Amino acid sequence: MESSLFSRNVRAREISRNVRFEKDRRAPYCFRCVAGASALSIARVSNCPSSFAMSMALSAVPRASLVQLVPPRAAHAQLWYGWRSEAHAQRYMPIEPWSVEALRRRLVASTPDLSDPEKQEHRWIVQWQDECVGIVSILRPSFRLGHAEISYHVAQAYHRRGIATQAVAALVDRVFEQTDLARLFAYISEPNRASRRLAEKLGFVHEGTLREHFMIHGRRVDQCVYGLLRREWASPRKR
Ligand SMILES: CC(C)(COP(=O)(O)OP(=O)(O)OC[C@H]1O[C@@H](n2cnc3c(N)ncnc32)[C@H](O)[C@@H]1OP(=O)(O)O)[C@@H](O)C(=O)NCCC(=O)NCCS
Repeated sequence: MESSLFSRNVRAREISRNVRFEKDRRAPYCFRCVAGASALSIARVSNCPSSFAMSMALSAVPRASLVQLVPPRAAHAQLWYGWRSEAHAQRYMPIEPWSVEALRRRLVASTPDLSDPEKQEHRWIVQWQDECVGIVSILRPSFRLGHAEISYHVAQAYHRRGIATQAVAALVDRVFEQTDLARLFAYISEPNRASRRLAEKLGFVHEGTLREHFMIHGRRVDQCVYGLLRREWASPRKR
């Protein structure tokens, strides 16, 4: 559920009592959290005085706690195209060279509505502090056999902040809450340490390796299969 401006302001006020900031000399309109709270250390703020206070306080929210999954819109295609073009994605994923227009059509055709059994792709845009930072997907669900593939992608500028882990956890929660699927799985190229670590943190099990199953920039790459069962997700876990 998207948090309202009201609740964000209340949260901002609560947090701002407990933290202290100093101006960051390296960048205009940036402040560093110097005391209190586990924080993203820098908050970018605008000239607007009201958003100034709120942004400072929001910077002290624990890492990645403002991650939301929202329905995709056609306008997100350009962003998605940009993320797919980034070095990390190109290095580890067998990305097909889809145009912005082709991605737009895929976004429009995909639906976040998991109750639609005809759809092969269900996608959500990952928002973090109201910015669109990535995309998560459920692909080719088989409601008869009870399994589906998941896929996730976060823009490089937002890596290593825990955002991706939170987004995928939210996706898994959503799928197991809204469907009867018993198993989710991901195909991850063997050298993609970030993705493998993310999956393992969430309890996915490395079930096997498909040797030289991927072709990435002309090179054959091993592909790891990671799986998560509904009952494993339901049991107590550390994240
Ligand atoms: C995979 C991806 C989503 C991970 O994003 P991220 O921002 O690094 O994820 P998180 O910040 O949630 O970190 C997840 C874990 O991976 C670790 N990690 C991140 N980069 C790493 C790296 N290069 N080597 C080893 N571990 C790494 C993080 O430290 C964290 O583990 P920790 O909490 O134990 O420290 C991101 O790299 C991405 O979108 N890549 C391009 C698309 C892609 O590869 N998608 C997966 C296809 S299956």
